[in-house]
Amino acid sequence: MKLLSTIFFITLFLVSPHPKAQDKPLTITGQEFSHAAVVTAHPLASQVGIDILKKGGNAIDAAIAVQFALAVVYPNAGNIGGGGFMVYRGKDGHVASLDFREKASEHAHRDMYLDEKGNPITDLSLYGQLAAGVPGSVAGMEEAHKRYGSMPWKKLIQPAIDLAEKGFSITTQQAREFNNYQDRFKQFNRNGAAIIRNEEWKTGDLFVQTQLAGTLKRIAEQGRDGFYKGETADFIIAEMKRGNGIMTHADLANYHAVWREPIVGTYKDYKIISMPPPSSGGIALLALLQSVEQYPLRAWGFQSDSTVRAMVEAERRIYADRASYLGDPDFYNVPVQYLTDKKLNQDRMANVNLAKATPSSEVQASSFPGYESEETTHFSIVDKDGNAVSLTTTINGSYGAYVWVDGAGFLLNNEMDDFSVKPGTPNLYGLLGGKANAIAPQKRMLSAMTPTIVEQNGQLKMVIGTPGGSTIITSVFQGILNVLEFGMSAQESVNAPRFHHQWKPDRIDVEGKAVAEHVRTSLESDGYVLYPRQSIGRMENIVVLPNGKLQTGADPRGDDVAVGY
Ligand code: DON
Repeated sequence: MKLLSTIFFITLFLVSPHPKAQDKPLTITGQEFSHAAVVTAHPLASQVGIDILKKGGNAIDAAIAVQFALAVVYPNAGNIGGGGFMVYRGKDGHVASLDFREKASEHAHRDMYLDEKGNPITDLSLYGQLAAGVPGSVAGMEEAHKRYGSMPWKKLIQPAIDLAEKGFSITTQQAREFNNYQDRFKQFNRNGAAIIRNEEWKTGDLFVQTQLAGTLKRIAEQGRDGFYKGETADFIIAEMKRGNGIMTHADLANYHAVWREPIVGTYKDYKIISMPPPSSGGIALLALLQSVEQYPLRAWGFQSDSTVRAMVEAERRIYADRASYLGDPDFYNVPVQYLTDKKLNQDRMANVNLAKATPSSEVQASSFPGYESEETTHFSIVDKDGNAVSLTTTINGSYGAYVWVDGAGFLLNNEMDDFSVKPGTPNLYGLLGGKANAIAPQKRMLSAMTPTIVEQNGQLKMVIGTPGGSTIITSVFQGILNVLEFGMSAQESVNAPRFHHQWKPDRIDVEGKAVAEHVRTSLESDGYVLYPRQSIGRMENIVVLPNGKLQTGADPRGDDVAVGY
């Protein structure tokens, strides 16, 4: 059956004059591949990735091609106008992480989103030109290519150019979204944009992005200079001036991606490799795993009463730490060792009474010194040699700042909202922050993105990540435990419904069918507040089986697809 449907999809792909992203059935079963696998949020991006691997490219080559392809076929989150993080593990076991997070402009300042009374003007950090940080994705991809790439740069961007120039057929989810956002798009793009049109978008309609193709060609020819200098930079600065933007030519020219030491720690006999600050993801994920390591989760079972209590109480405490101590390490001394000290995290949990909810008001950050709209995207890649890439990239909210750079055809991010706009005031998604994540010129805003790689006995075990704003960390936490403790396959670990607690607001967000009714009743009787949510994250997971096969999990919540050979 799987073989038949694969042949069906490939045939459609080949006979169609324009690539079609077919809508797939809601539940998909996991797949296993012998050599290489690519899992992304869009079928055409997955296809681009596997094509590169089949042509002899490595995981980094495929990641670069996928990043650019997603900027075309998945405009709500895929991007060249945003930023992201990559965690890499080479076939020889060495690890690296690349920070291509956006930065604040040289003209940014701490109170730039406050009115004269000192109150936040939320819309300013969310919509329009002023919401945008200096994009990092193109610099990040060039940096990755310089260190690890094996195929010519131009060849990696060509698939994205083709998709933008010739167009591709949109999926049902995309048609719905494109229609839903038309008013916003018109409001912020007076000169129009490829996505804006008067008739309704329908499944299968061709989406052509000529301006974006032009920008991608400049990047293909000139590398980072094709984006941060010359014509593209001029388009960006002109766009700033059409609105209230402050980004300058110097901001663009001075943007550089940074290689950082990954967060590395252990959970039982597994090694966890994840993203360091300016993401909070790696530190928080490791601290969560350390906090629950002492509990018999496997015996308690998946989403049993005790399991949920232990995980939620850990989450409450770790998110309190996140709000106080995490920010851009180039500006703030993040106490990494302290926050990931296994003994401290375990001791702190040892005093927790799992029989009753601890009110969040009684939980403060330890004593050393909401939601996000659903769009960011993650992809996981393993090549035939065993090199692995875990990459999460974002423009923050769905369609970022809603501003397409006129002439250049790409969307600007609204990542500035990830700063703590005012200490102690939650951002739109309920996350708190303070001095560590206050706005400053050239600073990077704190992130929750958690691209992660797991190793066992020196061998690659898992490549995992997801979008979902504040829920990213707890989703990756669950995805990992689902495989390591609850014996799920890669696909089951992704399908499984999720829950989330982030200290404040003091409630457990519960997705769809997550947490059985009797567990809910028990939790509520002990003071937990459960809050229903429709969908949490879109996870992409690759698990290496003991026989060396690559088992994939692509999230059925979206159009996500795993391919391999
Ligand atoms: O970096 C962050 O943590 C957020 N900007 C991510 C936003 C996100 O995941 C939205 N969507 N799912």
